[in-house]
Amino acid sequence: MSGNTFGTLFRITTWGESHGAALGVTIDGCPAGLLLSEQDIQKELDRRKPGQSDVTTQRKEEDLAEILSGVFSGKTTGAPISIIVRNKDVDSSRYEELRNTPRPGHADLTYEQKYGIRDHRGGGRSSARETTGRVAGGAVAKKILSQHGIEILCHVVELGGIRAKKVSIPEIRENTENNPVRCADPDAAVEMAAMIHAAISEKDSVGGIVEVIALGVPAGVGEPVFDKLDAALAGALMSIGAVKGVEIGLGFRCACMKGSQFNDPISIRDGKIITLSNNAGGILGGISNGEPVVCRIAVKPTPSISKEQHTVDIKEMKNTTISIKGRHDPSIPPRIVPVAEAMMALVLVDQMMRGGLINPIISADNPEAGPEKRRL
Ligand SMILES: Cc1cc2nc3c(=O)[nH]c(=O)nc-3n(C[C@H](O)[C@H](O)[C@H](O)COP(=O)(O)O)c2cc1C
Repeated sequence: MSGNTFGTLFRITTWGESHGAALGVTIDGCPAGLLLSEQDIQKELDRRKPGQSDVTTQRKEEDLAEILSGVFSGKTTGAPISIIVRNKDVDSSRYEELRNTPRPGHADLTYEQKYGIRDHRGGGRSSARETTGRVAGGAVAKKILSQHGIEILCHVVELGGIRAKKVSIPEIRENTENNPVRCADPDAAVEMAAMIHAAISEKDSVGGIVEVIALGVPAGVGEPVFDKLDAALAGALMSIGAVKGVEIGLGFRCACMKGSQFNDPISIRDGKIITLSNNAGGILGGISNGEPVVCRIAVKPTPSISKEQHTVDIKEMKNTTISIKGRHDPSIPPRIVPVAEAMMALVLVDQMMRGGLINPIISADNPEAGPEKRRL
């Protein structure tokens, strides 16, 4: 099985299964000299971990991060960083019936068709637990970005058809983590939570839309043609399980607009070139233009539902039905927020390293200082 590695210069490889001994990430290409502690990783994993509220899966995992390599005296050495998270609350008993009956909407059938063997306990590599590695890697990327004044925000803007009102950046910062659905509009958050509870009582699930924004990205990030910043972001965000659509800026809404409406007028403010609107989502020609980078992802309703669905018994080769037990997220958007942030951070660090905007050796005092400024 290939496809477990992401990035060009800043590369992560995630490994491990939902019901195996552990999961983790190996980060290759991290600059040396970055101050990094387990707490830096843990604070992001704590935002991702299951069982945080009654609108997420009730699997209870501490998801404690342990750094195995690549950090010495509190700083990265430039060597591969390995981070392990051990699975603790594993209950595989409820997955036994999935051995021969693929879940509609999940990856069970395609894994079976491709490999002829699969870890039926919790979805194996297609489980959401794979995203612990992404979030751990993303925590390192975020730390690098913060030294360059780049902040990543993410919030749920729609859930089960309920739309949040348009919110400001300070509202996203202040409100998002204050409610279990991670919506920056407090009134909509209440309605969304009620929608999730209604879905639970109907043995069903609901999807939604999540917006991820990068602030402070300088102009010039992105490699044109095949590795355009928007193409890299679309691939990265679409690689997250359950994501079925990615928009950059106004996205699909551009299709019914005129050029005069969609184009972002260019102007000068305080001696700096800016655009007066940001319909392009901060990217033109695959290169950032200094405006906020804005992406939205469409997240499908959770496939594992306890409502009865049609499927097949692949051993007996006969039609059957399934009503899924086990612990599942009734709605994925609230849980995908830290994962989407991580993927945005990983893309930006990789592209900035490729463009020479991040040095391979970081000075703790001055992140902008390159190797030539170091005393050998
Ligand atoms: C954060 C997160 C949580 C998820 N939780 C569940 C879950 O509890 N149950 C489930 O069936 N799928 C869950 N999924 C979705 C599956 O991982 C995903 O649908 C599956 O891998 C198939 O991939 P696809 O939807 O991209 O085709 C979750 C995904 C993410 C990113």
